[in-house]
Amino acid sequence: MSFRIGVLVSGEGSNLQALIDSVHGQDGIEIVCVGSNNPDARGLVRAETAGIATGVFPAGGYGSREERDAALADWLAERRVDLVVLAGFMEVLGPVFVRRFAGRIVNVHPSLLPAFPGVHAIDEALAHGVRLMGVTVHFVDERVDSGPIITQEAFDPVPYSRDIAAVEKRVHEIEHRLLPHVVRLIAAGRVRIDPDQPRHVIVEEDDGDH
Ligand code: GRF
Repeated sequence: MSFRIGVLVSGEGSNLQALIDSVHGQDGIEIVCVGSNNPDARGLVRAETAGIATGVFPAGGYGSREERDAALADWLAERRVDLVVLAGFMEVLGPVFVRRFAGRIVNVHPSLLPAFPGVHAIDEALAHGVRLMGVTVHFVDERVDSGPIITQEAFDPVPYSRDIAAVEKRVHEIEHRLLPHVVRLIAAGRVRIDPDQPRHVIVEEDDGDH
């Protein structure tokens, strides 16, 4: 039986590419569709090149954000996705969408959450002068970048001279490893919310529990 993934992107789609290259078609995992709010997202081209179905759901194309979210949710449900991966999807999905896929949506974020949620995380972290930056992969709940954390990896931004392009490159290197790793663990049934502490995620890495 395959594990079916829907990926949502808004732009470049380098995280989608990492998933296509290292997860798609392996161990029964299939990316069955890639959706975007942005018709010009490069991620859509990456999906088409890989032979993956695409769909465009611009917020402005519907009567309301709720209607857009419902159309997107229906599209994902029709494709029987087991997991929705937000890979650089830059719009907030409303509570109806989140509840419909409860516990089955993950996001990758370029900061050590709960520090610096939102769309300017890297700029804000550098402006703040942090000594540690990083990447978080987390479940999505009804608030922005706030759901239970699955994994995080930190790095020291100082060697990159606080040059934003160099820091972004380092962030992407980490994301492109961490997100596929988490997706593989979820597909293998190795990630679950602790029923006694719903903020806590139990992750069975290869070398034991973390
Ligand atoms: C990533 O840095 C991700 O953390 C953030 O948006 C960026 C998307 O990059 N949410 P890409 O489109 O995957 O290249």
